[in-house]
Amino acid sequence: MACWWAGWLLLLAEAGGARLEQGTLESWAQAAPRLGNASGFQASSLQRRLPQGIIIGVRKGGTRALLEMLALHPQVAAARSEVHFFNREENYRRGLGWYRQQMPLSRPGQLTVEKTPGYFSSPRVPARVRALAPGMRLPLIVRDPVERLVSDYTQILHNRQARCKPYPPLEQLLVRGDRGLDTRYKPIQRSLYALHLARWLAAFPPAHIHVVDGGSLIREPLAELRRMEQFLGLAPRLGPDNFCFYCLQAGARQLLLQPDQGLLLPAGRGPPTSTSTRPRASTACRPGPASFYFNQTKGFYCLQAGARQRCLGESKGRPIAKLLREQLCTYFSAHSELVFGLVGRTSNWC
Ligand code: A3P
Repeated sequence: MACWWAGWLLLLAEAGGARLEQGTLESWAQAAPRLGNASGFQASSLQRRLPQGIIIGVRKGGTRALLEMLALHPQVAAARSEVHFFNREENYRRGLGWYRQQMPLSRPGQLTVEKTPGYFSSPRVPARVRALAPGMRLPLIVRDPVERLVSDYTQILHNRQARCKPYPPLEQLLVRGDRGLDTRYKPIQRSLYALHLARWLAAFPPAHIHVVDGGSLIREPLAELRRMEQFLGLAPRLGPDNFCFYCLQAGARQLLLQPDQGLLLPAGRGPPTSTSTRPRASTACRPGPASFYFNQTKGFYCLQAGARQRCLGESKGRPIAKLLREQLCTYFSAHSELVFGLVGRTSNWC
């Protein structure tokens, strides 16, 4: 453990001392209005604006769900695809003009937000973002590191299979002969949250990084979104009407189930338990023009926009050998505690 802490402190010192890169790009101050200063917006028409908020990760942590839910807020304009500006050299070299072109059209007073989970674990990114936008707001959604790892592996596996390429079983990738866990495996590296967070904290004050608990976003989305609204300086607009907790999707019809009708939910997944974020029964199934309803089959909230429904995430994490899970839990535990300690919350991971 002592060794682990020494490495941690060394990394902090290195990252803190690292000189911020001076890009040749136009200054961010010219390009983007300051967060929370709506009067700083000059144009009165629809325009593409540089982001004032970036969801930096973690990969497979629930970044898409977080962005889509946040996009229900009238003051938010969300980029549709991952931009990979700061972490891919070919994109970074294209400059801020290119970056801005990837952003959605927004109205004055709206906050532009993008998400690229690859930013979180990419060593050069924190200093690059800081050099251009020291006021940037950085939501970070984290998830049980073992579940994240399995989900990460599953996504790689699917991508490989889609290209008819082989990929070894997870267990084979995780264990290096009789020498235990192969900690060089990228999905293991990406679950070492404290390691990557140290670099971000060397570049930004803690107040600029908001950690969202991915498990809580599934169980209590509204509570997490309210924290996000506060963090981003948005008016409190997301409410029970954006979430339909007691709905059952039957073909194209939505049925309203009263709480006493005994809605069965998959273990560990379900509508919020806290009464403060639970909608009143009378408003439970009156979704607005776009809202989320709880899809019992998926175990997630899915988006309902008019007659269209869209569930995110087709693939689910696969089971993993119990012994290996325990080994991974032990390996990740110090990192997990540190991440939650930083935000004054507790985790129930592993
Ligand atoms: P799984 O596919 O392993 O279940 P990301 O968007 O960062 O790639 O994260 C994908 C993960 O988001 C999913 O992983 C799932 O656990 C989580 N998630 C949270 N809320 C969700 C929702 N409403 N719909 C789908 N996935 C959601």
